Amino acid sequence: MSKKFTITTPIYYVNDVPHIGHAYTTIAADVMARYRRLLGDPVFFLTGTDEHGQKVEKAAQERGKTAKEHADILSENFKKLWVKLEITNDAFIRTTDREHVAVVQELLQKLYDKGEIERRTYEGWYCTPDERFWTEKDIHEGKCPDCGRPVEQIKEDNYFFLMSKYQDRLIQHILNNPNFILPESRRNEVLGFLRTQKLGDLCISRPKARLAWGIELPFDRNYVTYVWFDALTNYYSATRYLSPPAEGSNDPAVRERFWWPADHHLVGKDILTTHSVYWSTMLMAVGLPLPGNIFAHGWWTRDGKKMSKSVGNVVDPNVIVDTYGPDAFRYFVLREVPFGLDGDFSTETFITRFNTELANDLGNLLSRVMTMVGKYFDGKVPATGPEQPGDAELRAIAEGMPALIDRDLAALAFNRYLQNAWQLVTRANRYVEENAPWTLAKKNDMACLGTVLYNLAESLRIIGLCLYPVIPGTAQKIWNSLGISKEISACRMDEERAWGRLRPGAVIKPGEQLFPRIDTKKDSGRGSDLLNADKSCKGEKRMEPSTLTPQAEAKAAEPELIGIEDFAKVQLRVGKITAAERVEKSEKLVKLQVDIGTETRQVVAGIGKSYAPEQLIDRSIVIVVNLKPAKLMGVESQGMLLAASSGDILSVVTPDREIKPGAKVK
Ligand code: ME8
Ligand code: MG
Repeated sequence: MSKKFTITTPIYYVNDVPHIGHAYTTIAADVMARYRRLLGDPVFFLTGTDEHGQKVEKAAQERGKTAKEHADILSENFKKLWVKLEITNDAFIRTTDREHVAVVQELLQKLYDKGEIERRTYEGWYCTPDERFWTEKDIHEGKCPDCGRPVEQIKEDNYFFLMSKYQDRLIQHILNNPNFILPESRRNEVLGFLRTQKLGDLCISRPKARLAWGIELPFDRNYVTYVWFDALTNYYSATRYLSPPAEGSNDPAVRERFWWPADHHLVGKDILTTHSVYWSTMLMAVGLPLPGNIFAHGWWTRDGKKMSKSVGNVVDPNVIVDTYGPDAFRYFVLREVPFGLDGDFSTETFITRFNTELANDLGNLLSRVMTMVGKYFDGKVPATGPEQPGDAELRAIAEGMPALIDRDLAALAFNRYLQNAWQLVTRANRYVEENAPWTLAKKNDMACLGTVLYNLAESLRIIGLCLYPVIPGTAQKIWNSLGISKEISACRMDEERAWGRLRPGAVIKPGEQLFPRIDTKKDSGRGSDLLNADKSCKGEKRMEPSTLTPQAEAKAAEPELIGIEDFAKVQLRVGKITAAERVEKSEKLVKLQVDIGTETRQVVAGIGKSYAPEQLIDRSIVIVVNLKPAKLMGVESQGMLLAASSGDILSVVTPDREIKPGAKVK
């Protein structure tokens, strides 16, 4: 029997630029959604943007746009990133959707009619930028305890949701449902707080005079509702107008009953209180069931530091995905840290995991098998012959894998799931070494060789199936390489998990390397700024065939030849550096103004360890002028200069006689 599965991410503030943190929660939800679809369960995976409130209103004013126009533009950034990351959300909710607004007003009215909302005079401190009230004891020296900005003393009438009376019921709910808040450490935190502090009532209104960009209270037109009341309601409102049809019906009431409550709300630890306390008590008061689970994951930092726009150290998934593809990023974030703990992103750890796990372990396994099936069996999957050493163990690991995944994903233990799945990858690689197919080939023992290569190909099929939720594109490539044309997304785990489904005789279709190794030496000019760097890294990826078979090694050693038309795509010009300065907080980056005849371009180059800025002024250089602009440490670069590198030494390429800026280089 299939069980419906509803999973949500936070709806992200539309004003923020999407970064690794937003991507993290969304990727985790995507993996769960893809997995449950693979099990055949009906899935509703919801994400979206949070669009009301002061910050959006203010930013829109500054840009001379209406708040809605502004939100329309910005919510696209999220949508685009989700497409790029191959996120399979079933719906994208925006709190400015007419239907959502109607549901928020319906709930407000219902609570008001039931006497769950009361009008009171509020007197106290307010932090305008944070849109938050504070009590006297919270603030010190007139500053907001959260953001440190000055708070204002205000006195005004407001509406309060009588949250305090649900305190005991909430404690009881958490005690009766051990999985309601996870991980356990967070559950204990919330319980500790609820047991030791008196829950207050929640101010859920803002006078329009102070904030107009919000959902109007249905019972008092002078107010809009507090953004969190509006935002949290999205999870429920979406089940009424954005959820897939349920039980053959498109009726909103049927859909709501089917999809609500959510099975998981995935959130970061920053917003656990709003979810576990505000949202739970709101639902209790309205009389709706509570979600099955709220999972608060940890916080990402960059090189040990908090990410911030002003510091310019925000990890932009767009750049990584453009350079290394969505799967490497998806894999990295889930493999690197246990879900629930804090994580740190550094270029080094990303590259290390990429090169060892994705390129070596997985990528080379496939390319070895492809090469050998091609060479020894004319590109057709062989039939098995006599049993070989390690067969039983390899098969046992493959057959046991789905149960492990099920256990790990039920606990949202993504990194354990990947670790376990890697056992099969590792065992398959060892199986190659143990059975040395090239020796069997030399002895012309085609029957035994058939067994070995069939088992390897079949292991790869199962690896593809098992890793599909995390690295869907790669998994599909693995299947296609094995001559399987089915879409994994349309397959069922219980049908595909059985060992031996790969058909002998299937014609393999070797593709490109799954994960060409990142050559750190070649990229050293950019060093730790690699992942902020321009997208040209793509062309510099190179395969290091260290663990390939001798045949594949020889093939890989040949440089890939390009035609003149490929070269012609790169437009090179002579430029003259008119100004140069270091990029703040970077050892390597230098910001240059370069006269290219027709205009002056700003170019950021990773040459700061080899050149002092003043050495560069008035120099003629060669730059790529048709490179997409990119941001390096938050500074825009409109092109790339050419430099030769040898070890740590960098040498900027210059024309060897005077030639005017703008001259073409070809
Ligand atoms: O809070 N590490 O939106 P938001 C890990 N609109 N996760 C991170 C992160 C980081 N450094 N930074 C952000 C809001 N996140 C509200 C939510 S829901 C009804 C309303 C992720 O744009 C993480 O999931 O500030 C976090 O909870 C969320 O983005 C906050 O997104
Ligand atoms: Mg936030």
